Amino acid sequence: MTERTPAEGLSNLLTEQRRFAPSAEFAAAANYHADAYAAAAADRLGFWARQARRLDWETEWSEVLDWSQAPFAKWFVGGTLNAAVNCVDRHVLAGRGEKVAIHFEGEPGDSRSVTYAELAQLVAQAAHALTSLGVAPGDRVAIYLPMSIEAVVSMLACARVGAIHSVIFGGFSAQAIYDRVIDADASLVITADGGYRRGKVFALKPIVDEALAKSATNVAHVLVVKRGGNEIAWQDSRDLWWSDVMDQQPTVHQAQAFDAETPLFILYTSGTTGKPKGILHTTGGYLTQAAYTHNAAFDLKPETDVYWCTADIGWVTGHSYIVYGPLANGATQVIYEGTPDTPHQGRFWEIVEKYRVSLLYTAPTTIRTFMKWGEDIPARYDLSSLRVLGSVGEPINPEAWMWYRRVIGGERCPIVDTWWQTETGAMMISPLPGVSATKPGSATRALPGVSADVVDENGQSVPNGAGGLLVLTEPWPAMLRGLWRDEERFRETYWSRFAQQGFYFAGDGAKKDDDGDLWLLGRVDDVMNVSGHRISTTEVESALVSHPSVAEAAVVGANDPTTGQAIVAFVIVRGGVHANSAGDGSADSESGAALVAELRNHVAIQIGAIAKPRQIMIVTELPKTRSGKIMRRLLRDVAEDRAVGDVTTLADSSVMDLIAQGLATAKPED
Ligand code: PRX
Repeated sequence: MTERTPAEGLSNLLTEQRRFAPSAEFAAAANYHADAYAAAAADRLGFWARQARRLDWETEWSEVLDWSQAPFAKWFVGGTLNAAVNCVDRHVLAGRGEKVAIHFEGEPGDSRSVTYAELAQLVAQAAHALTSLGVAPGDRVAIYLPMSIEAVVSMLACARVGAIHSVIFGGFSAQAIYDRVIDADASLVITADGGYRRGKVFALKPIVDEALAKSATNVAHVLVVKRGGNEIAWQDSRDLWWSDVMDQQPTVHQAQAFDAETPLFILYTSGTTGKPKGILHTTGGYLTQAAYTHNAAFDLKPETDVYWCTADIGWVTGHSYIVYGPLANGATQVIYEGTPDTPHQGRFWEIVEKYRVSLLYTAPTTIRTFMKWGEDIPARYDLSSLRVLGSVGEPINPEAWMWYRRVIGGERCPIVDTWWQTETGAMMISPLPGVSATKPGSATRALPGVSADVVDENGQSVPNGAGGLLVLTEPWPAMLRGLWRDEERFRETYWSRFAQQGFYFAGDGAKKDDDGDLWLLGRVDDVMNVSGHRISTTEVESALVSHPSVAEAAVVGANDPTTGQAIVAFVIVRGGVHANSAGDGSADSESGAALVAELRNHVAIQIGAIAKPRQIMIVTELPKTRSGKIMRRLLRDVAEDRAVGDVTTLADSSVMDLIAQGLATAKPED
């Protein structure tokens, strides 16, 4: 699977010693106390049953966990519930209908606040709309929307009628939409004409049109939310305006309860091969853990807190910590459509001040961007409402952690660095605010109820102070229930490495410090993490070689001060393509620069703009072992400007000199 050893991932041994104990004041009012860990460990399934009781069930389960068909888990066996009822209706029934569920902040400055009672009506109408369009339980609905109330409503409406949503991030290309629509065999697509980003309208519907024109699909209808006001093409037999369909529907909907293991959503994520994996989540266990962790990691006080997760709904963070966790908990939250620098670099802090945000959840790459912009910008705003600051998506470096704590948190807010994955569905490793002593760069330990460990190559637990591979040693309620229609890949990817022990292999390197706290050190496979987004090297390589000028490509994730990792590609052009007259491996000749620009766009067309390589090197050779395997480790050395490591297994060791020379003369692309 990989040639990157954990030792390499761990080469940067940690020496961080700072720690921050919770204040007595925070601890006194905290939702959790130190005894939570022992109580959960003493009766793990009893603990999860208590968490499940946060939800409203129509039928109680007969068994908490059935692991007899491992690695296919069944949680809360025989229990029935409706996820949308749990996220919306029950808060209204409990007399909290007038509480704001979502404050929507549009990028151009428009805003709209929706109460739980209003949300209930919208979800009811959307549920009727889905049914009227022929969507039945188990059908797949693709959602390709900007950050909006409608995105939340669409997801909840699917859940309400038992349909499976597959949300596709708005930055993905027509090809990526097509692949996902075909793989899941979706019958409906919900999109918008466009959305706002960096002061402009970006079109969404035309990209869906292009995707659906590629070949026949089973998509019967495209439901279009009006947002951008941009011109779009229209197919009368297929396309419908969201508002036209919604307006005809009753505002009350009788929801049906579904079995706890009813599929809730598919979310595609990158693996080590070119084909994205359709991660499958089900209802009862997922919602239980999303709600529990949102409450625990943020110390949520639903009556007074205002929560804001800056992720996009297209990623798992948006699913679990914008839609399902916060709404199941009856929280009031902010969602924001646009970018942090539109129309100015203080936009995030303006939003915190405007809504008195108390719980903030964002990504290290965003924090590093704010650091670059300077601390005088947040200093202009009143951030005194903030209480807990969360981080997710990639390892947070101690410098960014300290900046977040000091500049944004005024040295009073606990930082919760939360480790989890699309596959885990919800947070797994995180401090508990008010309980844990936090350390800059450490996610500390598994949350109560969760069992994680760091093991060596043989699956043996490593002692404190040592590093290895992160594993999850016991099943957890929000765990993926498989990959959509690909059982073999599910077993192979996560369960084969430590099959003997029955551990889930996360694909991350980690270290235990002397206290036994965990430090996540990044992926140990060929998955890159760019601004917290997972992109596989193979996926980008496949995109590059699909261009007629490219004979071969190798892609690596190189360290980047802002985005964590950045994509660097090494490309051999086909015979007859004159990419650079200099022939020294650089892309500085005119034709070389033009080809590099074209290839970057080609990757954006194939996958999406997030996968555009930062740098593309046109080379004449790639470093290969005698058996023909590309040695990405050496390319990473070059891309990160390090002395090239051991080249003895290379078929031709002069190749690296050639490549290194070329890189030194090539200019990074913007
Ligand atoms: O490498 C880990 C990194 O992100 C991967 C999961 O990516 P994805 O499925 O896209 O989900 C991201 C949001 C949950 C992990 O395998 N990762 C996530 N959170 C952290 C992290 N690495 C270090 N520290 C974290 N807090």
